[in-house]
Amino acid sequence: MQLVTGNWKMNGLKSSLKEIESLVSGLRGRTRLPEILVCPPATLLQSLGPVIQGSPIKLGGQACHAKESGAHTGDISADMLKDAGASYVIVGHSERRTDHKETSSDVAAQAAAARRAGLSAIVCIGESEAQKNEGGTEQILAQQIQASVTADSLTPETAFAYEPIWAIGTGKTASLNDIDRTHSFIRARLEERFGLPGKTVRLLYGGSVKPSNAREILNLTSVDGVLVGGASLKADEFLAIIEGSRG
Ligand code: 13P
Repeated sequence: MQLVTGNWKMNGLKSSLKEIESLVSGLRGRTRLPEILVCPPATLLQSLGPVIQGSPIKLGGQACHAKESGAHTGDISADMLKDAGASYVIVGHSERRTDHKETSSDVAAQAAAARRAGLSAIVCIGESEAQKNEGGTEQILAQQIQASVTADSLTPETAFAYEPIWAIGTGKTASLNDIDRTHSFIRARLEERFGLPGKTVRLLYGGSVKPSNAREILNLTSVDGVLVGGASLKADEFLAIIEGSRG
């Protein structure tokens, strides 16, 4: 089943709950749906619980600390996210790698913490514009796959998200050919690294996914879902993206 995920990033107040209410009512009665995940800021997780109850929507966190608890001011543990209603957590998003200097080995420790807490990780990888222009895309992706998660952190629901940094929030999307070629490369590395689980782990695309391009992206056989930023904030746009899924 495809996985359509909304990453709200640092957006959303209590008033945004109405977007999820609209999403819930827009989904009512629909069949052949993909798995649907919303990753709001952690402050909204608890209040979203009653809103999504009885709907197909699941909740996820956007990041977690590698430790279970302790003196880490401002951080959130995987157990806290689980306790607040999450079943997934995004790890290694490029914005975390940049803003918080998180390395792939930090990401691997966070993915392990997620697994211990009973969460499935969505592990983000992707090259910068400079790396792409230097022809370094495959090398950076291979390194990130090698170092950003260990085999014992995988669950049947674990996903990898290919998010080229130059496509995030820019309106530029990788071409269908590039997505397909890069996903095939990533899939081969995942199989090499993890064996059978590397064949089945879901591989999402992220980077300026919107209603106008979601269907063609989700129609690629190498794409098992999408990770959507800006267009996930509005119920009607997110719903249109969900409708583009193969289910
Ligand atoms: P945009 O969809 O806003 O480009 O963001 C992509 C992203 O970073 C999702 O995690």
